[in-house]
Amino acid sequence: MAEERHKLVHTFGALAELGQEVSSKPNFHETMRTSLHLLLGSLAIMRGGVAGYSRFGHELNMLATRGFGEDFPLTLALCQEDERQFLGNGLYPIEISQAKVLPFFQIYDHSFENSALELFVPLVVHEEMVGAVFLGSKATGEPYTSYDREIVCAMARHIGVAIAQRNMMAELERRADENRKLYENLRMTYNDTVKAFAAAIDRKDKYTEGHSVRVGKYSEIIASELGWSEQEIEGAAVAGYLHDVGKITVERKIINAPYRINAKESTELNKHPRVGYEILMPINHPYADVPLAAKYHHERIDGRGYPDGLHDREIPYIAKIVNLADSFDAMTTDRPYKRRRPVNEVFDDLQRNAGKQFEPQIVTSFFRGMYNELTGEAKEKRFRRLLGREFMETEGMIPMLRSSLNAMTPTSPLTFVALD
Ligand SMILES: [Fe+2]
Ligand SMILES: [Fe+2]
Repeated sequence: MAEERHKLVHTFGALAELGQEVSSKPNFHETMRTSLHLLLGSLAIMRGGVAGYSRFGHELNMLATRGFGEDFPLTLALCQEDERQFLGNGLYPIEISQAKVLPFFQIYDHSFENSALELFVPLVVHEEMVGAVFLGSKATGEPYTSYDREIVCAMARHIGVAIAQRNMMAELERRADENRKLYENLRMTYNDTVKAFAAAIDRKDKYTEGHSVRVGKYSEIIASELGWSEQEIEGAAVAGYLHDVGKITVERKIINAPYRINAKESTELNKHPRVGYEILMPINHPYADVPLAAKYHHERIDGRGYPDGLHDREIPYIAKIVNLADSFDAMTTDRPYKRRRPVNEVFDDLQRNAGKQFEPQIVTSFFRGMYNELTGEAKEKRFRRLLGREFMETEGMIPMLRSSLNAMTPTSPLTFVALD
């Protein structure tokens, strides 16, 4: 009686340990090894193994073994008949010597005999075969009692559930991965379409070739200088690429006028932000602010912009970024009625208009990006690619930028660093 009680306590202990094992270890193979060890140890079984079942390959793959000979196969194939029988059998030990009619036991008879295997337990969880447990004889040489078999069942169930959980996680990960790839594809398609569109907008305006593409790139630089996330930076680029999309409805002769346009023509041209908004609004963008950037990229923080004369905080931040990128590109490229402006004038303009037209923080970020590139702090030559060597190698660029940066009103004590 005392021995029975002792055995019971021991078994419960092993079961509890196994339960903890399968739920706590992140390393699946380690879990399988420890589980097998616990199962063999609780009944003093000499050798055994745990295998996972591949539904697609119709095979059992050994996950952990103990005491098997070197030539024991690591993969064991099952035929339909075996699978059907094992599923019908459920999670109960099968006496190998009694099951020789099944093809599985005939094919691997030799290996099973060499390793002196006695029991085979199909791991059936939720009516699905997820693996199997192989058990050799007990150290005492005594046959398995019905009590032993119950313990084997209980422990095998734990192992089966652990394998099923792992399969489920792997399946979830596979699906998540598939979704990620799909999303990545969609994002690439979207971004390519945006770029193609920007190029199409630019084709309409023969004097400002490449304007939208450059505004996209400047906006991207500003967003990254502001420390935005990868997604946000991408969104800023898209907003820049598409900011002038509304121009596709403006007459070509107004856009391409080689003179300063008159009031009527100007009213026509100034409709482009609103039109752009209307074009972009119905599209499902991954970045919510893209239509707003088109609508408000000609607003100024002093309220003197158009179309709505919004003030500072009323203007979406992304529109402020595109506004600076847009203005900077207009100043640094030749227009039909205006040559590109000298570097010092451009910097003066940005500095003077910070707080009037431009958001000071954005101007600072823009200057700092250029400064870091010129001083070699930033390795990538983003400005140089857009502005060309001549612009970037203008004499006195670094001191000019330094003094502009120092002259800018700090937006907070943390962003202001005096440069010498
Ligand atoms: Fe515009
Ligand atoms: Fe523009």
